[in-house]
Amino acid sequence: MFEELIRGWDGEFVAARFDASSSTWMFVGVHSTALGPGFGGTRMKVYATPEEALGDVLRLSAAMTLKNAMADLPFGGGKSVLAVPAIPEGDARTELLRRYAELVASLAGSYVTACDMNTTEGDMDVVGERCPYVMGRSAAAGGSGTSAPDTAIGVFHGIRATLAHAFGSDDPSGRTIVVEGTGAVGGSLCDLLADAGAKLVVSDIDPERARAVADRVDADVVDPEDAFDRSCDLFSPCATGAVLNADTIPRLRCRVVAGAANNQLATPVDADRLSAAGILYAPDYVVNAGGVLHLAGYERLGWTPEHVSMRLAGIGDTLTQVFVAADHHGVTPEAAAYRIASERIAAAREPR
Ligand code: NAI
Repeated sequence: MFEELIRGWDGEFVAARFDASSSTWMFVGVHSTALGPGFGGTRMKVYATPEEALGDVLRLSAAMTLKNAMADLPFGGGKSVLAVPAIPEGDARTELLRRYAELVASLAGSYVTACDMNTTEGDMDVVGERCPYVMGRSAAAGGSGTSAPDTAIGVFHGIRATLAHAFGSDDPSGRTIVVEGTGAVGGSLCDLLADAGAKLVVSDIDPERARAVADRVDADVVDPEDAFDRSCDLFSPCATGAVLNADTIPRLRCRVVAGAANNQLATPVDADRLSAAGILYAPDYVVNAGGVLHLAGYERLGWTPEHVSMRLAGIGDTLTQVFVAADHHGVTPEAAAYRIASERIAAAREPR
């Protein structure tokens, strides 16, 4: 099964280690180094089987290649997974992260890690004790702090560009926008949209979190199960992946989908389903690039806050380019973005 998964993948290499003392499978997938070192976060998760974890790392590392290429960063795509039997705490967690740091260090900079699901900046501080190839450490440890506010700013620019393409005006004022997930990114996004005059409807599986944001920005709250059915101009997924699927797409009552969540499409065919339903979809890995721009910009590329702001605004320009290319070639925005990213990667591989 491992062999089948790796043979069916078009990436560069996978590093695997079984950490016997914690019964944890560690996988690092470096999908592409054509544009620079593979860069992507560390996911800590309980998986049913090691094969499921390996499958995740292969898929997610390929998505990072596209994200970093579309953000025009000098980084390729990578991702790692710590497939733990249970989420560890305390000393056991620290020791596991130190051993994981040794694995990342052994890759000599071909992979650079950061936070992802169930890993925090405190965890990256621990990784940083033994390995220089890490971003997303705390400000106290020399990192750039949380990327969520910049991710939200990037999504805001992406939403404006998407509205402009769908309606001929990028002005969110008076538009009804449903934000699914009012966490770190979704909450900040609601503030930006409310300031711009949008009428907001919010949902979260944590009702108190939804209520707190709704009170702050004068929004309606909708039950998470009913969020897809709510009539609106734009639906913004800012919670979990695979929310756009065969069940939910027919229920959407919006003209546009643009949000922060990673891997919003459950399957590639869902891009076609959205298009057939007359819904303009902003590819997630283009819209949510604010996080990688923040991390790479501040921690590796020496960018000033002004330059980071300019690059976040550039997410809107990139999306406009994607929509124009999609219309020109008669394909979905997802397919158009893939094509642009692939061309950038192919150009980097050509001998100079
Ligand atoms: P978060 O954990 O702070 O917020 C997620 C929120 O979604 C939580 O409030 C949670 O209760 C809620 N939620 C979970 N399932 C839900 C459901 N089915 N319906 C409604 N609400 C639900 O996470 P964060 O940082 O705000 O990230 C949000 C999404 O954006 C994630 O998919 C993440 O991978 C993606 N992302 C985040 C970046 C960042 O810089 N934080 C960068 C790029 C992508």
